[in-house]
Amino acid sequence: MSKVNELGTAKLTYEDKSIDLPVFVGSEQEAAVDIRALRKETGMITYDPGFVNTGCCLSDITFIDGEKGILRYRGYDINDLAEKCEFIDVAYLLVHGVLPNKEQHDEFSQHLNTHSLMHEDMRHFFDAYPDHAHPMATLSAMAVSLSTFYPELDDVSLQENIDFKVTRLLSKMRTAAAFAYKKSIGHPIVYPSHDLKYCENFLNMMFHTPVNNYQVDPVVTKALNKLLILHADHEQNCSASVVKMVGSAGANLYASISAGICALWGPLHGGANQHVIEMLERIIVEDKGDVKRVIERAKDKNDPFRLMGVGHRVYKSYDPRAKVAKQMCKDVLAQMGVSDPLVDLAQEVEEAVLADDYFVSRGLYPNIDFYTGLTYRAMGIPTNMFTVMFAIGRIPGWIAQWLEMRDDPHGRIGRPRQIYTGPTQRSMS
Ligand code: ACO
Repeated sequence: MSKVNELGTAKLTYEDKSIDLPVFVGSEQEAAVDIRALRKETGMITYDPGFVNTGCCLSDITFIDGEKGILRYRGYDINDLAEKCEFIDVAYLLVHGVLPNKEQHDEFSQHLNTHSLMHEDMRHFFDAYPDHAHPMATLSAMAVSLSTFYPELDDVSLQENIDFKVTRLLSKMRTAAAFAYKKSIGHPIVYPSHDLKYCENFLNMMFHTPVNNYQVDPVVTKALNKLLILHADHEQNCSASVVKMVGSAGANLYASISAGICALWGPLHGGANQHVIEMLERIIVEDKGDVKRVIERAKDKNDPFRLMGVGHRVYKSYDPRAKVAKQMCKDVLAQMGVSDPLVDLAQEVEEAVLADDYFVSRGLYPNIDFYTGLTYRAMGIPTNMFTVMFAIGRIPGWIAQWLEMRDDPHGRIGRPRQIYTGPTQRSMS
């Protein structure tokens, strides 16, 4: 494997069998044992529920150091990207591996506008859903529906025009998200405009109405760019792994991303941003603001309740995205002159978490979902759209991961094994 440094071998011995397994490191010195020959040589497999210790690929896209709280896309620190870039620059970076220059940025921005309209027949799909439909369900259905209108994407081996397909997907999913919202509140949809850039366009599609000429607020636009950048990729997380698993069977990019949207919807993953707000609201209404009681419930192993927006599989220190999101939340609320009692409550919960040995000893800190929902709320985005916002931000990451999977020379169909524990053979009579 040309991209890694071989360190030596690890010996695995069991009874009379022994195998030397190659050990290697990636560019950030994370060591791995290559077990690809394990079953063939020993007949044994590994047992690793939740893939806690399992590396499924070599990847050039995103680096996370969960102990130090570092996140980098293509080598650039998340703090720098969030401070200095627009979302579309980061989308370009993830997909192409380099930041765009001015000319590439303008061209990409123009292409995003060119492909922003969906086929008009797709607009009628939105009418068939009930008003209370969760927009994540609608978004996932729209993602896979795009493959029926733009079937050329079915050919996964089609190399040419990948930019065109990526641009189309990024742009149309944003349009679909805004349409889903308009449908849910019974308002007429607003078409995208070529006069507006990516984030402004989305805000206009969300908030313009026939009776209110929405003026895009630069504070909100800047915040949206930042939030989408924070969401843009997170290496082999649950939804990215789903996107790649579906893609590994040869399914097209739209079908793969539709599945990823469903995975992201789960409350243990991106769905947590909606559940954080609902949890904070319940603390006020049901627990009468009693944070101590809520913390005790979260620690009680007989109670299924967990603090939403707290804890992470990889980060065992403060999630660097949560740091940016927390500061941004304060700034945006101050700049917009909004005060929200849920923000004070969130800080109270965070302080209780940071002071409690249960959370500290387990490395449980606020994650990205803890503060992002509060910012979306200040921007006027309704709670059930929070995970949709996450999905819009994550699309470039999913695309980059899918493309890398497709081009991986070691890539194979994703197919874990199991250790069967059911009945042994039995007869029917
Ligand atoms: N509240 C209370 N206890 C928790 C929490 C929490 N939010 N998160 C983890 N723990 C405890 C577990 O009970 C476990 O305790 P134990 O060692 O005594 O058994 C320990 O911390 C380790 O937790 P696991 O569930 O084993 O950790 P895992 O890596 O499997 O799960 C997860 C990570 C799903 C994020 C978990 O921390 C969680 O449920 N958090 C709340 C949901 C959430 O915010 N999800 C968003 C994550 S960010 C993202 O996906 C975009």
